[in-house]
Amino acid sequence: MSALPKQKIKKPLVIAIDGPAGAGKSTTAKALAAVLSYLYLDTGALYRAMTWKIIREKVDPGDLAAIELLCASLDLKLCMTGEETQVWLNGENVTPFLRDPAVTRLTSSVSALPPVRKKLLAIQKKAGEKGGIIAEGRDIGTVVFPDADLKFYFDADADVRGKRRSQDLIKQGIDTDVSSTIRDLKARDLKDRSRTLAPLKKGNDAIIIDTTDLNPDEVMQAILKEVVQVCEAAHARVPFPA
Ligand code: DC
Repeated sequence: MSALPKQKIKKPLVIAIDGPAGAGKSTTAKALAAVLSYLYLDTGALYRAMTWKIIREKVDPGDLAAIELLCASLDLKLCMTGEETQVWLNGENVTPFLRDPAVTRLTSSVSALPPVRKKLLAIQKKAGEKGGIIAEGRDIGTVVFPDADLKFYFDADADVRGKRRSQDLIKQGIDTDVSSTIRDLKARDLKDRSRTLAPLKKGNDAIIIDTTDLNPDEVMQAILKEVVQVCEAAHARVPFPA
């Protein structure tokens, strides 16, 4: 992986990466965070944490009053590094539970609920206020950080994404088969794209990266080219704080 010429980074940027599951967002965001020494914000982890809590407390996701109450009573804290976003709920680190298949299945429905999105929007905005962050999700460039310095929209053929996701799950020791993973992923995409609030879509100002035929190194090359360009332009416009 090529190193970015460090002297060209003039201010801590906010970089947004949106796109459907399995398009390579998190792999790239982590690699980019390592190259730039930035923080990595996995916003899906927040929606997964809310979902985990709803399952654990046996709250009916259809009962909006109960969801609102839960959101109001929940203290959600983030711990970001360049590699991982840890989520703490009322003092408990729930990160190890976020990839449970039951959580994955329900998260698209939970993430369509207005009180959940409202609560998590404020937390995400706060996490990015100092810049120096790479955030990935579904509505980062469109809703969370509309003024991000760089916005990418990752996409890839759904079958390719499903195969990648299936390999990831197998590596994590989760029993799966490719065809059901592809089916679940397509169902999740549909929900994420068709919800009323902050749906998954490409913003007008996002750069599209189709990762279907690209390996992670090639994706990084494409991204780094854009980062260098924006930093050079930003040097003239926005001086780096001493
Ligand atoms: O990125 P992920 O697979 O961990 O995301 C899990 C779900 O969370 C995804 O199906 C939709 C939701 N999500 C969202 O609605 N908005 C985001 N910014 C990130 C994730």
